[in-house]
Amino acid sequence: MIDLRSDTVTLPSSEMKEFMFHASIGDDVYGEDPSVNLLENKTSDLFGKEDALFVPSGTMANLISVLTHCDRGDEMLLGNQSHIFKYEAGGSSVLGGVHSHQLNNNNDGTIDINNILLAINDTEDTHYAKTKLLCLENTHNRCYGSAIPMKYFKDVRDALKPHALKIHLDGARIFNASVALNEPVDKLVKNVDSLSCCLSKGLSCPSGSMVIGTKKFITRARRLRKMLGGGMRQSGIMASAGIYALDHMIDRLKEDHINAKNLSNEIFKINGLEIDTTKVKTNLVFFKLIKENLNANQFMKQLSEEDIKIDYKGNNIFRMVTHYGLKNNHIEKVVKTFKLILNK
Ligand SMILES: Cc1ncc(COP(=O)(O)O)c(C=O)c1O
Repeated sequence: MIDLRSDTVTLPSSEMKEFMFHASIGDDVYGEDPSVNLLENKTSDLFGKEDALFVPSGTMANLISVLTHCDRGDEMLLGNQSHIFKYEAGGSSVLGGVHSHQLNNNNDGTIDINNILLAINDTEDTHYAKTKLLCLENTHNRCYGSAIPMKYFKDVRDALKPHALKIHLDGARIFNASVALNEPVDKLVKNVDSLSCCLSKGLSCPSGSMVIGTKKFITRARRLRKMLGGGMRQSGIMASAGIYALDHMIDRLKEDHINAKNLSNEIFKINGLEIDTTKVKTNLVFFKLIKENLNANQFMKQLSEEDIKIDYKGNNIFRMVTHYGLKNNHIEKVVKTFKLILNK
């Protein structure tokens, strides 16, 4: 099976599993798991922030972050293509009573700074929910996996100076952004107050994400993690995968980016498929099926008969994600199969 639906399908390497097997563990809810403590320290150092918290998933990391920044009835601004808005079951609204105000995402994942400024309400006018938070995303999943450069975050931060607004970054794939932009992660996130990052995507851990911010923020976030049922006791087994990943799995993400670029260049040559290869900057490849007499379901079915899985986004648009689980000949096989199906 060649599974290109997501980088979440990655499995831990045997070296990672061996490392997990030997993890020192304790009860993390008591703060006594040495591996979790080490991962949290390592992460906050890497990102140049005061503290970090290990949580089960990216969704929980974002939810905890939003709920830590906002009280019930507060408003957050976020992109209309953001993962928090589209794919997290509306958790911030359901569980936190946080009002979401969606702003247009540009193709590169940014939101126009003027639109952000126009949307902020920090007056005492009782008609409006108070805007407390801006959520950004890097790399931006639905915006072609684009890596947003440091300058944008600096410009947003400068523009927000007159307002008491916090910035949270959904950095599920922040390491992809760092590798693509050749910028260390601490610089990339210098201008945000908090961020989440995933260990279970390109870094290939079985599960786990981090919430990162100030000591005060993480103290409150830790309480919310308990409240949401995310206190995992001997979670050092999982945390040790994260420790291994931070040391060994970041640099190799460039291979995923090269594979994505090669794959997109091949797709460009196939009649019946449409792609803008200039948008492929990290490990996500979006393309459109434009062949008459072949619909999305038929295409997916024929691919699955050849043991290939890709992600359908609707409107004849598909996403493929390159990752650690791909072997040398996989890209070749996918391209060959696409050609066979489309030339029928
Ligand atoms: C940008 C982004 N944020 C958050 C998440 C959520 O992560 P998880 O699947 O671990 O809940 C994902 C998952 O694909 C993602 O792509």
